[in-house]
Amino acid sequence: MEVRAEKPEDVEAIHRMNAAAFGREDEANLVDQLRGGISTFSFVAVESEQIVGHLFFSPVAIAGECADNLFVLGLAPVAVLPNYQRQGIGTFLIQHGLKECDRSGCKAVFVLGSSEYYQRFGFISAKEKRLRCEYLVPDEAFMVLELESGALNGCTGPVKYRSEFNKLG
Ligand SMILES: CC(C)(COP(=O)(O)OP(=O)(O)OC[C@H]1O[C@@H](n2cnc3c(N)ncnc32)[C@H](O)[C@@H]1OP(=O)(O)O)[C@@H](O)C(=O)NCCC(=O)NCCS
Repeated sequence: MEVRAEKPEDVEAIHRMNAAAFGREDEANLVDQLRGGISTFSFVAVESEQIVGHLFFSPVAIAGECADNLFVLGLAPVAVLPNYQRQGIGTFLIQHGLKECDRSGCKAVFVLGSSEYYQRFGFISAKEKRLRCEYLVPDEAFMVLELESGALNGCTGPVKYRSEFNKLG
């Protein structure tokens, strides 16, 4: 299994695999809308020349107090084809993606999801960093990983995703 950056010819397969993993088109459409935006990152997991996993990052903004121009990203969505789940592909994709975010100068990554799943990568509740999600979600579901230790010190307030996320139910 190989993890690599998305290529132009992957676009349709990525759409199909997100729709299959989530059982609806919303996340697949979201990726199509966000793709190509500034500071977006898209990775695929490939096995036997088939795209079996996909991971996307897009910029988020700390709308409260924070250092100017702090480069922070949101991890979403991540998906693995149903028949390939629970084989470590999601873990491998996320570990690879986080390293690439770090290499690109990103200081912290936010994620909204299962704390049980994301804590294995070092994510902690964003509340511990005095940051909250713009959406009404349980505190433990909105998490952050500092790629540079202390990068979020002094930051506080709501964290905003790109407006395209507002359509996700
Ligand atoms: C979430 C997802 C990407 C994980 O990919 P994966 O390749 O199956 O994950 P891994 O094999 O690396 O890890 C499997 C572990 O994650 C756990 N896990 C998977 N999905 C989980 C979830 N939604 N909540 C909690 N734990 C989860 C499994 O219990 C398993 O734990 P174990 O290793 O202790 O048995 C995949 O299940 C998926 O595509 N789900 C549908 C889409 C989705 O919900 N994406 C996340 C929201 S953006």
